[in-house]
Amino acid sequence: MPRRRRHSPDTVARMRQELLGWYHRNKRDLPWRRTTDPYAIWVSEIMLQQTRVAAVIDRYTAFLQYFPDIQSLAKAHEQDVLALWSGLGYYRRARMLHKAAQSVVSDHNGVMPTTAEGLRSLPGIGSYTAAAIASIAHNEPIAVIDGNVERVLSRIQGWHSHDTISEAAVRRKVDDFAQTLIDPRHPGDYNQAIMELGATICTPRNPQCLVCPWARECHTLGEHRTPKRAAMTTREIACALITRETESRTEILLEQRAAANTVMPGLWELPSIELTKSLKTAHVFTVRHAIMQVNYIVHVYSLPTESISSSAARCNWISADRASSMALTGLARKILTKAHVIPSRSRHQLPHPPSRE
Ligand code: ADE
Repeated sequence: MPRRRRHSPDTVARMRQELLGWYHRNKRDLPWRRTTDPYAIWVSEIMLQQTRVAAVIDRYTAFLQYFPDIQSLAKAHEQDVLALWSGLGYYRRARMLHKAAQSVVSDHNGVMPTTAEGLRSLPGIGSYTAAAIASIAHNEPIAVIDGNVERVLSRIQGWHSHDTISEAAVRRKVDDFAQTLIDPRHPGDYNQAIMELGATICTPRNPQCLVCPWARECHTLGEHRTPKRAAMTTREIACALITRETESRTEILLEQRAAANTVMPGLWELPSIELTKSLKTAHVFTVRHAIMQVNYIVHVYSLPTESISSSAARCNWISADRASSMALTGLARKILTKAHVIPSRSRHQLPHPPSRE
């Protein structure tokens, strides 16, 4: 692995200028870039972890409509927070955000800490989120390091872990280099610019070196190895679409995941059934759904109302009107939308208010 190439103060100044100039000419117009409210930036940064920008935009806007400030989030019911998170996945993030808002209200007089160090003391806020909020909202010159930033800086230097250099050692070098490069006059823009560069130009595969503002500083020009993504596996499962008509409305049988479940506890989904050839049911459709490293092929069957007892643990008849504003799993929302049981969430439509009955 090449040693760290020293960057003179002139080179560092030039790199800051090149990156910020590129960012101001090319940055995507995203809703969280129009605010300096630390709470809104916090929400956006948590949503953006492990989730694509396109998926976050609508959810971010809806979330802030219902929970415009820490106080409203702190006093919300967890199920309503999860409902507004529905479709983003990784629901633990929503629970931690909710808990942290409660901790700000109860332990910090409702005011978020303003430094990265103070922010790290809140539940669910690690180094990445703390640095993002402190730099963007409060101009603290602290470098944000996410996967994109790590890739950009490692490529510039030609660093990669191998037999004799651990990942942790590379990470320490990256941390150091990142802190050298950050522009102390514009730390928030600088941090967003380098993340943007990693997300749009210095991508894991096929980086666009020809239009990269840092091409002439870069040791590898995209030749750098990026670790292979873990292979996806495929699983086939089945679930039951069971509806009934009452005098005034359509109801659907949904099951709440157990609180003790490690994955998506408390969320609502369609009852799962065994996938057997002898299902005396009508196949409605099949959908595909990816969760983490698994591609699910989900066969949806229409079952008669009596086939699964509504008194079965955690099963409930839910009116179709109410279902769409509940904390559904992303898969349940996809199936119920495709089956026209709930309306699709259009881009411009206001979200349903969280419902409490
Ligand atoms: N990825 C996560 N947060 C980001 C931000 N604020 N700007 C650019 N990319 C990001």
